[in-house]
Amino acid sequence: MGRLEEKVAFVTAAGGAIAGATARQFGEEGAAVACVDIVEENVKETAADIEAAGGKAIAITCDVTDEAAVKDAIDKTASTFGKLDIVFNAAAFPDPLLPLHELDLDIWRKTFDVNITGMFIVTKHAIPHMLEAGSGSFINISSIYGARSARKRPAYCSSKGAVRMLSKSIAVDYAEHNIRANSILPGPIETPRLLVANKNMDDVIERHRPHLPAARLGQPEEIAQTAVFLASDESSFMSGNDCFVDGAYNAL
Ligand SMILES: NC(=O)c1ccc[n+]([C@@H]2O[C@H](COP(=O)([O-])OP(=O)(O)OC[C@H]3O[C@@H](n4cnc5c(N)ncnc54)[C@H](O)[C@@H]3O)[C@@H](O)[C@H]2O)c1
Repeated sequence: MGRLEEKVAFVTAAGGAIAGATARQFGEEGAAVACVDIVEENVKETAADIEAAGGKAIAITCDVTDEAAVKDAIDKTASTFGKLDIVFNAAAFPDPLLPLHELDLDIWRKTFDVNITGMFIVTKHAIPHMLEAGSGSFINISSIYGARSARKRPAYCSSKGAVRMLSKSIAVDYAEHNIRANSILPGPIETPRLLVANKNMDDVIERHRPHLPAARLGQPEEIAQTAVFLASDESSFMSGNDCFVDGAYNAL
């Protein structure tokens, strides 16, 4: 028996590294997975991998900032698999590294639109299905930079701080309905996203070294393992938490 047997999950950014690894682990643990991303080719690949491993999955191309498309995607998930138990919210805009006074308002708005408003939209349309099912678990991807700052990331850091508070609000408002919400705050994880601001992964480790006592980056699968726990009934009394998965980055 998998740890998520009989459960149905909706995973945003499933064409990407962290959410892709999470969708695959959800599938391995027995969940039926709706893989959602703005990039059709990538999300189809994730869903195909889950099916090839013997799991159940559908691929949905959808922009999390488009409310009508999100509602359709969630309704399609519930109608295909019969219900909705788990939402993994991970879509994020790849904002450029700039000091605040050089940041265009458009970029600020786009970062908030994808990173936090998209999460609101997904949550809003998922909750009625969870109320109907009598339970649910939201796993919302913040960042170590939602708890401490980073240079030249004003929009990203602010939006990731907002993710933590949105998760706590959901946790408080829906606790009586057995709906939980937790944030994961990853430290630097070895994904292509890190190469936007760094030449290679050695550069990433060097830049972060003062906060990396293990002198290594995390792997997408290490976020996925935490997500499986938060999605499963093993974490049934855990809600409203900031779960650091950061190799002690925040402790140093
Ligand atoms: N990689 C890290 O070190 C790290 C650290 C902390 C937090 N995070 C967070 O983890 C999450 C995943 O990051 P990743 O490293 O896997 O990045 P990634 O670039 O591999 O994945 C991001 C995915 O989001 C999708 N996406 C972007 N805009 C979207 C939209 N409007 N609607 C739907 N999908 C959209 C992209 O197509 C992409 O597939 C992000 O929220 C990121 O902020 C990453």
